[in-house]
Amino acid sequence: MKKKQLLIAGGAGFIGSHFCDHFLQKGDCRVLCADNLITGQEKNIAHLYSNPDFCFLKQDVIESFDVPGEIDFVLNLASPASPVDYQRYPIETLKAGSFGTWNLLELSARKKAVFLLASTSEIYGDPQVHPQKEDYWGNVNSVGPRSCYDEAKRYAESLTLFYHQQYGVPVRIARIFNTYGPRMRLNDGRALPNFMTQALQNEDLTVFGKGLQTRSFCYVEDMVLGLERLLFSGETMPVNLGNPEEIPIIDFAQTVIRLTGSKSAITYRPLPKDDPMLRRPDISMAKELLGWVPKIGLEEGLKKTIPYFAENAKNVL
Ligand SMILES: NC(=O)c1ccc[n+]([C@@H]2O[C@H](COP(=O)([O-])OP(=O)(O)OC[C@H]3O[C@@H](n4cnc5c(N)ncnc54)[C@H](O)[C@@H]3O)[C@@H](O)[C@H]2O)c1
Repeated sequence: MKKKQLLIAGGAGFIGSHFCDHFLQKGDCRVLCADNLITGQEKNIAHLYSNPDFCFLKQDVIESFDVPGEIDFVLNLASPASPVDYQRYPIETLKAGSFGTWNLLELSARKKAVFLLASTSEIYGDPQVHPQKEDYWGNVNSVGPRSCYDEAKRYAESLTLFYHQQYGVPVRIARIFNTYGPRMRLNDGRALPNFMTQALQNEDLTVFGKGLQTRSFCYVEDMVLGLERLLFSGETMPVNLGNPEEIPIIDFAQTVIRLTGSKSAITYRPLPKDDPMLRRPDISMAKELLGWVPKIGLEEGLKKTIPYFAENAKNVL
């Protein structure tokens, strides 16, 4: 049987590298991982170098590029994703969402491949509707500190949809909510790596505001399965993927302290500008269309994640 050919842009990143693993484990796929390593890490994919079905291409997707042979699926995960990363690289983030998505859509059109965009819950901004359904248009400050990411993804969604409507490219748009697990960078600035690293070093956990803002965290294995279901579905409109289990950040911090057995306390800092107060996906569309629901609860997911952070936090001590 002919193996499916996948191009995973951003495949050396946190979610992308789990995606590479998942498809290679199936045995009927070949994976070409294209990444410029701006926020990704080669160590996330180094274990795949000896696999004949895996190939790494150091490539910035904002530059037009081609690859030889057939490609059946193009997955676009290439973008800085954490607030610290995209505020450090705002123009690169805007270019990844615009030129990067454009180049990968052009490649999909040439190769007659299915294109999947990793979009984000950030397109809802600081939502005035809760939980967020796909038909909510969002509440985004177009010139705020998060706009380089939010607006890049909003543009990418529009570009993706019109490549489908105008050129017939089969497209999928995943609106990914907060995802966590092994291979997140310890210093990527997101709540979970911050809390884990601080707890494992018995330092105070930094909570913004009073910690009453909520988040919903999805374990990466669940996310990969959701993305796979969406990829193989015929759905061209955006679909929310995330775990609807919602938790105030303060409770999340206390859970991390308890599960790591840490002696840390909590310190409070001012809330960053435009930080969303509420975040929970309505995943009824994913349930109905894809038959997908996340299976791994927060405590179970955190227990699977702690060993990775414990191992890596040792190296920064
Ligand atoms: N992790 C989450 O909670 C989350 C939530 C919503 C959406 N997403 C989306 O999922 C995707 C992956 O996120 P992640 O958490 O794994 O982040 P990540 O930073 O770990 O991975 C992104 C990868 O893209 C690569 N990249 C960035 N710009 C590139 C470019 N111009 N050319 C080639 N490669 C480039 C980076 O080097 C990195 O390997 C992103 O598109 C992100 O917007 C993630």
